[in-house]
Amino acid sequence: MEIVDVSVVVLILSVVSVKSVEGKDFTPYNFRSVYNFGDPNSDTGGGSTGFYPAGPPSGETFFGRPAERGCDGRLIIDFIAEHLDLPHLSPYLDSIGTSHRHGANFAIGGSTIRPQNESMSLNGVSPFSLDIQFIQYNQFKARTSFLYNQAKKNYHRKHLPRPQDLSQALHVIDIGQNDIAAGFRLKNESEFHASMPDIVDQLAKAVQNLYDQGARTFWIHNTGPIGCLPVNLHHHLQPDELDKQGCLKSLNDFAIEFNRQIKDRVIKLRTKLPNAALTYVCCKI
Ligand SMILES: *[C@@H]1O[C@H](CO)[C@@H](O)[C@H](O)[C@H]1NC(C)=O
Ligand SMILES: *[C@@H]1O[C@H](CO)[C@@H](O)[C@H](O)[C@H]1NC(C)=O
Repeated sequence: MEIVDVSVVVLILSVVSVKSVEGKDFTPYNFRSVYNFGDPNSDTGGGSTGFYPAGPPSGETFFGRPAERGCDGRLIIDFIAEHLDLPHLSPYLDSIGTSHRHGANFAIGGSTIRPQNESMSLNGVSPFSLDIQFIQYNQFKARTSFLYNQAKKNYHRKHLPRPQDLSQALHVIDIGQNDIAAGFRLKNESEFHASMPDIVDQLAKAVQNLYDQGARTFWIHNTGPIGCLPVNLHHHLQPDELDKQGCLKSLNDFAIEFNRQIKDRVIKLRTKLPNAALTYVCCKI
């Protein structure tokens, strides 16, 4: 499921150093925490904790051991954390050796924006869709604030986020690829096109919900070229089904349309949420 490539990472890092975005100015590097929502592209261990541990070659080229990522190295979210001088994000679901002082990762492999009527055993679809990830974020916020305020000793607060840091956190959303995969699997082209606005609405709703909870800085990724994933290319494909890059054209066309609609929506959200800084991050597809 891994789509991260070096050119994407270079692009992202150069965007991280941008001083302001349309909307409200923000200074980079002063984020004390990151909250991430998404799918396998930014899953730092939620799927391994909640479902099946990622085996080799996960982690092989960087961590030197399976590192609970669907990737042999680091993910974009790892590079973002490093760039902000923060530790790699601990998954919300992981109870072993984790610290949430600097945020939490709600991303889980197999997750979608819209809840699907499928399952992990049926199609590898995670039940932790974006709306559920938001509910987990709310629980996280309420429970950690309670524990932080109740703690008698600093030691007990060590792995908890400071409640005042939450609204100043960077909120990253990187999801949508599995909605495209599910649409491709279950619907014909016109049905899928018809469902796209609802997918985008639900992502926008998640941003609004986070905003209502005090989040102000958002980093929203577009989706990658899903039609280039080996999992989608191992069938016998006719030459006219492929694009210039040798990827499955019909699937990449859905990704392009999804990205177009997400970008339009982020621009609209900037007007709707004037106190928020919303960055839309695109990788070229
Ligand atoms: C799942 O099923 C419910 C009830 O039939 C329906 O309302 C919903 O739209 C379905 N979700 C998707 C993503 O197809
Ligand atoms: C797509 O599916 C819908 C619902 O089953 C059907 O009405 C429509 O004719 C189909 N369109 C094509 C192009 O097959």
